Amino acid sequence: MTPALPPLEHYAALAAERMTDLASRYAASAAGSGHTARWNEERYQEIRLAPRVGVDVTSVDPSVRLLGRRLPHPVLLAPTGCHRLFHPEGELASVRGAGEAGALFVVSSYTTTPTADIAAAARGPWWFQLNPAPDAGFVANVLDEAVARGAEALVVTLDTPVAGMRSGQGWDGVSLPDGLEFGVLRDLPAGLAPPADPEVIHRSALDAGLTWDRLAGLCAERELPVLVKGVLRGDDAERAVAAGAAGIIVSNHGGRNLDTLPATVDALPRVVERVAGRVPVLVDGGVRSGGDVLKALALGANAVLLGRPYLWGLAAEGAEGVRRVVTRLRVELEMAMALCGVRTTDEITDDVLWT
Ligand SMILES: Cc1cc2nc3c(=O)[nH]c(=O)nc-3n(C[C@H](O)[C@H](O)[C@H](O)COP(=O)(O)O)c2cc1C
Repeated sequence: MTPALPPLEHYAALAAERMTDLASRYAASAAGSGHTARWNEERYQEIRLAPRVGVDVTSVDPSVRLLGRRLPHPVLLAPTGCHRLFHPEGELASVRGAGEAGALFVVSSYTTTPTADIAAAARGPWWFQLNPAPDAGFVANVLDEAVARGAEALVVTLDTPVAGMRSGQGWDGVSLPDGLEFGVLRDLPAGLAPPADPEVIHRSALDAGLTWDRLAGLCAERELPVLVKGVLRGDDAERAVAAGAAGIIVSNHGGRNLDTLPATVDALPRVVERVAGRVPVLVDGGVRSGGDVLKALALGANAVLLGRPYLWGLAAEGAEGVRRVVTRLRVELEMAMALCGVRTTDEITDDVLWT
């Protein structure tokens, strides 16, 4: 019998049975030989915990405060594209599952559902992620739409000026099967067709000329907080804060862009140190358990984002799968907190790490 909150491996296996070959390859693909994607997970397992016993943990509260909002726990859903490849209800199932699990949902630019429909189905806060395209008018329309529909923040992905060479994907990432279309990028005036010449590295939907000055313009133009996703270096974190970013997401894109980048949990402390509390720092990549969430927070993250694991839940059981994957991690986090002798997320410091 399936337990009420199965482990993530259960969903990985179930998803593998249910996903089309295309969806499987899209979710799993990583840059190069997949070192970075593996390190993201492995490095969490190399960090040891130092539990404090004899603490009254009759009440454990995993909630966090983020950009002025109290969230029931620190697990957010990272922007990932093409949810209709995983389940017929696509992003609608994801955003419902997120809402039921109390997880903030980040809508990807590569959504296969229009932003308006996701917004209508949302039962909790959501942010919109932008892969800036070279077309300023198009980008302005996309952002205006997201803001009008209720996005509470914008996430600008800066780590993808060009696509990486992904092993195993075997798909250009934009030619969807019949019956599916992109909810936002379908309106890109230049179209999405990959260049006919395989030696051309640039793509119509990716702005290879985006600099910190332009990001500062984006931050200044909008009332909404703008988070920068894809930062690994301390000096880039400083540039993000100087440009007006309201938050930083330490990310290597799940190891999908450039192989041999460090695991994000190794990059996190440098960014945290440089930012010194001026804006929240989030991290994604390889988070697979509540213990991993605890470790990320102990290293200074304010919250984490999940990528592949909720796609497994989506592929396996739609909204319910997403809800159960997130809930499993939240319950594991509460257990890990109690077992380490911490009652609130504010009490999670590097004191819980075995150094
Ligand atoms: C299938 C898939 C699609 C993704 N699409 C996007 C995207 O559209 N925009 C973006 O900023 N990041 C995208 N990402 C990266 C995620 O936001 C996140 O950084 C990464 O998945 C976290 O690592 P994890 O999968 O190990 O949890 C994608 C990741 C996956 C696995």
